[in-house]
Amino acid sequence: PKRVRTRHFQNAKREGIKITGLTSYDQLTAQIFDAAGIDFILVGDSAGNNVLGFDTTLPVTVDELIPLTRAVANAVQRAFVIADLPFGSYETSADEALHTAFRFMKETQAHAVKLEGGERSAEQIRRIVQAGIPVMAHIGFTPQSEHGLGGHLVQGRGEQVEQLLRDARAVEQAGAFAVVLEMVSSDAARRVTEELRIPTISVGAGPHADGQLLVWTDWAGLSTGRIPKFVKQYADLKGILTDAVHAFREDVATGAYPGPEHSYDD
Ligand code: KIV
Ligand code: NA
Repeated sequence: PKRVRTRHFQNAKREGIKITGLTSYDQLTAQIFDAAGIDFILVGDSAGNNVLGFDTTLPVTVDELIPLTRAVANAVQRAFVIADLPFGSYETSADEALHTAFRFMKETQAHAVKLEGGERSAEQIRRIVQAGIPVMAHIGFTPQSEHGLGGHLVQGRGEQVEQLLRDARAVEQAGAFAVVLEMVSSDAARRVTEELRIPTISVGAGPHADGQLLVWTDWAGLSTGRIPKFVKQYADLKGILTDAVHAFREDVATGAYPGPEHSYDD
């Protein structure tokens, strides 16, 4: 299959074809999503609360994300793979951001990086893009600033829409190839999407964005925590696995497993 590249994102917006993305943190799900035609895979720092056992994304480090990103990038043939820069690995300066982006690009086979922030991250985006590394921006609700934002709150409502538009223009100006809009009102997302030339990718930003992205463990019904309202669950993996454990325990207790077909003769 022909690899997805940044121009696929531009063409999709121009032609009105919606873009789809999922997160993944491992080889097997990455292979499945890729083979089923997902356009891009984000190895998100949402690994923090889906794989690594933290409550938030804040403790996640570059050293923790690199092996996960490598596993995903090595597993896909077509999808565009994006490495998420964790909290504390890019904010200090454009130099720090570029250094971190280089680590992901050299130590994994990711195709791009993502970082949070609009105007405040424009210099970082510009420097990374100048080095030849595509950047996906991320504005609206930015989980790494959860405490500064005062919790999981919808962004871009009322007066806030002007700041959202300034952030969107800033990341486009800085050279981002796409921008994630997380948890913003549908109307604000529509305005940003109409104004920008680069595609907008919604995570809980309604139907008007150029694409949709979800955290795969929420999307597949595997997460045990609170699922945000904007997630549609496309499977019930938690239910399937729970039933499987019950069946396994029952079979072992009754001797139904293992049968002769699962056992070796002399
Ligand atoms: O880490 C992540 O999964 C993300 C998406 C929710 C945008 O940043
Ligand atoms: Na993230």
